[in-house]
Amino acid sequence: MGKNAKKALLSVILILSMLFTFSACATTNPNQSKSNNQTSQTTNTSDNSGKIKIGFSFDTLNLERWQHDRDYFVQRAKELGADVLVQSANSDSQTQYSQCQNLIAQGIKVLVIIPHDGSAIAPIVEEAHKAGVKVLAYDRLIMNADVDAYVSFDNEKVGELQAEAITKLVPKGNYFLLEGSPTDNNAKLFEQGQKKVLQPLVDKGDIKIVGEQWAQDWLTQNAYNIMQNALTANNNKIDAVVDANDSTALGAIRALQEQNLAGKVAISGQDADLANCQLIVEGKQSMTVYKPVKEEATKGADVAVALAKGEDINANGKVNNGKIDVPSVLLTPVAVDKNNMVDTIIKDGFHSLDEVYKNVPKDQWPKQ
Ligand code: GAL
Repeated sequence: MGKNAKKALLSVILILSMLFTFSACATTNPNQSKSNNQTSQTTNTSDNSGKIKIGFSFDTLNLERWQHDRDYFVQRAKELGADVLVQSANSDSQTQYSQCQNLIAQGIKVLVIIPHDGSAIAPIVEEAHKAGVKVLAYDRLIMNADVDAYVSFDNEKVGELQAEAITKLVPKGNYFLLEGSPTDNNAKLFEQGQKKVLQPLVDKGDIKIVGEQWAQDWLTQNAYNIMQNALTANNNKIDAVVDANDSTALGAIRALQEQNLAGKVAISGQDADLANCQLIVEGKQSMTVYKPVKEEATKGADVAVALAKGEDINANGKVNNGKIDVPSVLLTPVAVDKNNMVDTIIKDGFHSLDEVYKNVPKDQWPKQ
């Protein structure tokens, strides 16, 4: 081959290898995003090595607690040798349904779902089973479907703890109930638990429920609007708020603050979000219900891998979802106020003392 021909061949090979290298770097997954408020965020930890692949469909990752669940679950799954594909539906039922179909198409063995709407998502269970995929309802139950397993907390107990704490502080007076999202089955269970405690006091005439509203998608802004309207409608004569979780309590406390009532009106929460733990030690929120998320997420990953392997999930109970008694693992929630914050949330390392007491003068910090 002549000298010139060799040169030409070499330059073609060089150009082709450069083109190939460039294109390999450019093929990233468009959904690959680290931020938590993407409409559909896919964190693909799968390295296609034939390991167990789990799909995890979140209603949303915009609320703090679900970011903890994701991180603990993925960490535990990796310890067990499984990969996790995470998607967030940004609180939209249709998005969640199509994301679950997409996860099934990616060859997962188990589909873990925190449903935006426990009834709307139900048909995906049959679709998953047809594809040989097991379904785990995580934290929130999927209704009227042959769900393989359910991992959560005793959610009626959550509501009981909230109402018990508030009625201890305010045994008589005007109560407002600020409930969670109407699409979330858990919100109904929290309310049922609350009412178990409140109803006898209503019957005795000790407390009067002056209003009850549900905050769509658990949004802080929606809770703020509800609380603002409730204070106006009742001429600020509200003595206590039984509030279903911390993201909504944040909005309610903002509305109370505007009327100089923050710290004067008892208010409950749930999830031990950092901002709310700070409000508790500052005296503006009465309590939260701490659900050791690390325990739930770790158990969730254990159950998902057991389902993938066809092993026993070690259920500790069954919960009826309108169709079947779903084999369940239910964990125990803990009532936390400023008196036991150190012995629970801080001792577990869920938040640090410095984080929680950030706005409290150092000389008022508890001895650890
Ligand atoms: C519920 C969950 C609560 C709270 C709420 C808002 O289903 O059990 O812990 O986080 O959703 O996300």
